[in-house]
Amino acid sequence: MQKITIAIDGYSSCGKSTLAKALAQRLNYSYVDTGAMYRSVTLYAIRNNIIDKDHNLDEAKLIASLDNIELNFIFDSHHKTSETYLNGENVERFIRTMEVSNNVSKVSSIKQVREKMISLQRLMGKKKGVVMDGRDIGTNVFPKAELKLFMTADTDVRAQRRHDELSSKGQYFTLEEVKHNLLERDYADSHRKENPLTQAEDAIVLDNTDISKEEQLEFVLKLIEDTYLAPEKHKHL
Ligand code: DC
Repeated sequence: MQKITIAIDGYSSCGKSTLAKALAQRLNYSYVDTGAMYRSVTLYAIRNNIIDKDHNLDEAKLIASLDNIELNFIFDSHHKTSETYLNGENVERFIRTMEVSNNVSKVSSIKQVREKMISLQRLMGKKKGVVMDGRDIGTNVFPKAELKLFMTADTDVRAQRRHDELSSKGQYFTLEEVKHNLLERDYADSHRKENPLTQAEDAIVLDNTDISKEEQLEFVLKLIEDTYLAPEKHKHL
C-alpha cells in the first residue's frame, strides 16, 4: 500500500494534533507535532533567560544558541504517541503551559529558528507515511503533500476546549485569558513575514465547530481510503 504525506495546518487549538495523532495510529504512520518543536525552543529560551519575565526576547542570543538545542520525538508505547525531547529531556508537560503559549509566536517568527525546524521536519518526513501538523506544512514544508487539510473552528469553541484542557492539567486561567492568547497567536501566526499561516490552495477545509472528533476522523479516513487506497485495491481485483 503506498504511503502518503498528510499535512494538517490551521488555527490554534482547533484539534489539529488530536486528528493527526488518531490518523497516525489508524494508518500506522509517524506523527510530527511541529508546534511542539517551536514550543520546545521557546521553553529553552525561557529557561536560559533568553526571554525575560516581561516577554522581551534576546533574538541574537537565541540565534547564537540554536546549535545547543537538540530536539527528538520518541515513541511512547504506553501513551501510544511520540513525545517531545529537548536535549534528552521529555518536555511534554512543560511545553503546553500558558507561559510558553504567550511567547511561542515571537520565537517562531524568527527566520533562523524556522530554518532549523523546517530542515528537521523535512528530514523526519522524507520517507512519507507521516502526518505532520502545524501552520506552514502544506504551504512550505511539504508543498507536494498528497493530502492537505486546513482546520478551523469557531473561536469560542476553540477557547473553551483549550480552557478545559489546561484546567484538566491543573492550569487555571479564565476563559477570556485563554481566548485572548488564541486570538493573539492566530493574528501573529497569520501576519508574520516568515511562512505565515495561510490556507494552501489545494487544502481541504475542515471546520469542526459542530462535529465530534470521531466523526471528523472517520470523514478523513474515508477520504484517504477513497482517494489513495481504493485505486490500489481495484488494481488487484
Ligand atoms: O500547534 P501549536 O499551537 O502547539 O503551535 C505553537 C506555536 O508554534 C504557534 O502559535 C505558531 C508556531 N508554529 C509555527 O509557527 N509553525 C508551525 N509549523 C507550527 C507551529
